[in-house]
Amino acid sequence: MTGKLIKLFESSADDSQVLWSIRGPQEFLMIKLGGFGLIAKYNDDSLAVINPVKLTKTLAEELEKLQEETKCSVKVLLSAGDYHHYHLVDWSKKFPDAKLYVASDRILKKQPSLRNPIVLDQLNPASSIPELQESFDIVPFLGMKTGLPLVFGDKIGDVRVEHVVFHKSTKTLFVTDHVFAGPEMFFNTGGCSIKDADAATKSARKVLALGPKNIVFSHGKEETFSIKDREDTSNNKKSCVQLLENAYKVFMK
Ligand SMILES: [Fe+2]
Repeated sequence: MTGKLIKLFESSADDSQVLWSIRGPQEFLMIKLGGFGLIAKYNDDSLAVINPVKLTKTLAEELEKLQEETKCSVKVLLSAGDYHHYHLVDWSKKFPDAKLYVASDRILKKQPSLRNPIVLDQLNPASSIPELQESFDIVPFLGMKTGLPLVFGDKIGDVRVEHVVFHKSTKTLFVTDHVFAGPEMFFNTGGCSIKDADAATKSARKVLALGPKNIVFSHGKEETFSIKDREDTSNNKKSCVQLLENAYKVFMK
């Protein structure tokens, strides 16, 4: 299915009907950031939503249509970054039977009315989501602290939590906030800073070892929210791994 807010995400001809990108409006400090996420099919009859964006009427209608066409139902909602909690209540109401997984306790504090959220294990997040283990690798990006404490009501030095989500069959990496797309990918030094360079370096190595061929960012514009590996890396065109390596240089030891 391809609609206005849900679009098929294909990295090869074999990947049709397994992965979709979703989009929603998002603003921060009056800046239009755009919100993006993924929907993945797993277990033949189930859909997982990664990074639930603003649930508009149009998106809700397209979700109904996607469920009908795929004969799958939304059974997992996953917010992998601890600053992305604003839309979770709406999604939980829309899909009351779906399991809701969140990045950290911070989301519980920010959204105390959420029903039955499951906080991911901070060191081994994949172990918290057994139903996704076949389709996804999940890497905790450790060693970060918040970069904008006064804006969000956090304390200086508070740990910032993000788990990087990798869809194995399409080699698609989803990042919430720690790196952003641009002409060159860059580490989000505005929102995050490094608390423990050793831990961050180890996490970065684990992400690079996944060997992503596609990267989807939670923010951006329609033209920039995702990057695909180029077959031709001449003329200074860089692969996804090269772009990530470049972004991680600011802290990697
Ligand atoms: Fe964000």
